[in-house]
Amino acid sequence: MLMRELVEERSFFGDLTVQPADGLLGLIGLYRADERPGKLDLGVGVFRDDLGATPVMRAVKAAEATLLRDQATKSYLGAEGDARFVELLADVAFGAGSDRLTGVQTPGGTGALRLGAELIAHSRHDATIWIGAPTWPNHAPIFREAGLPVQTHRFFDVANAGIDFEGMMEDLERTRPGDVLLLHGCCHNPTGADFTAEQWRQIGRLCESRGLLPFIDLAYQGLGDGLDADAAAMREMVRDVPEAVIAYSCDKNFGLYRERVGALWVQSDETALVRGNMLALARSLWSMPPDHGAAVVRLVLDDPALRADWAAELDGMRARINRLRAALAACDPRLAPISGQRGMFALLPLGPDAVDRLRRDHGIYMAGNGRINIAGLTMDSIPAFVAGLAPYL
Ligand code: LMR
Repeated sequence: MLMRELVEERSFFGDLTVQPADGLLGLIGLYRADERPGKLDLGVGVFRDDLGATPVMRAVKAAEATLLRDQATKSYLGAEGDARFVELLADVAFGAGSDRLTGVQTPGGTGALRLGAELIAHSRHDATIWIGAPTWPNHAPIFREAGLPVQTHRFFDVANAGIDFEGMMEDLERTRPGDVLLLHGCCHNPTGADFTAEQWRQIGRLCESRGLLPFIDLAYQGLGDGLDADAAAMREMVRDVPEAVIAYSCDKNFGLYRERVGALWVQSDETALVRGNMLALARSLWSMPPDHGAAVVRLVLDDPALRADWAAELDGMRARINRLRAALAACDPRLAPISGQRGMFALLPLGPDAVDRLRRDHGIYMAGNGRINIAGLTMDSIPAFVAGLAPYL
């Protein structure tokens, strides 16, 4: 019998499981294909101005012009990426340096989360990752793909539009020492509901007493109450706990979405050991991160005038979002909690049918779980949005 006849006539890949398309990213295509003039894109989390545009920030444009003119080489930087970028961004995130923190550049916040997940999996393969419900839909897959078990704890009570802190603390009594608690640094995605300073302190004490590692995802610094205000709780926690992991994204606060700019820091007494492992893992995952966006952030943060202009433009973006929040909240008592929440998102108490109807009947696009991107609204579009929404609230 010929070898060829023994070979199964099946595709090598035939055993793969069919994967559903990503619901959030799918909305981008659906919205583009919709020809209705009054359509409203409240889907993917990108900042939008009054004209619905997601502009390149002024300081970013200026830094890009400098790069184009002055960049003398595109030779490799190494697995750590742009070291000066990491140093300057640490100053933005933590306010002050610490020799117990070690950081590397990553491809976006997702790259930072994945690198952190791999580091944990290599260190404690049986650590359970505790995530609040609901959270960014990509959190669980990132940790699961690194081989880590994921458990959810109560976080947001949709009916009351607020954090169920008691329920959360009760659920976390099931954690074991060495487990990991994933926290949103600010501007919670998808709810916009952030912990109070006192709740952060209680979580810090819980991490200490139960031996949990806090893993903080900081993806919206500057879009809640300000650059320092948004990081304050995270900074205090990191100061008070022995070890922590921080994943950072520059997608939103530098508007560099597609450039994939992020960083991962670990706080530990074992910085040299941790750093060596981060670099080895990064090398096997992506070898070296992309340069352009990080070089732009470095140029912006290294130049006082550009840095001030970036911070001013970010202030304006935040002010726009908070104005829209206040206006939306004032339209209907059931939307009132939105004014006290922060960042780009709010989670509306809508089932999948209502989300579908709003898209089909009114051209209103939002994530399947009822999350809206507040920045996608304008003062002019709010009345029609609320009128479409009201029957479903
Ligand atoms: C979002 O939540 O809309 C953004 O973070 C984009 C993404 O990657 O999901």
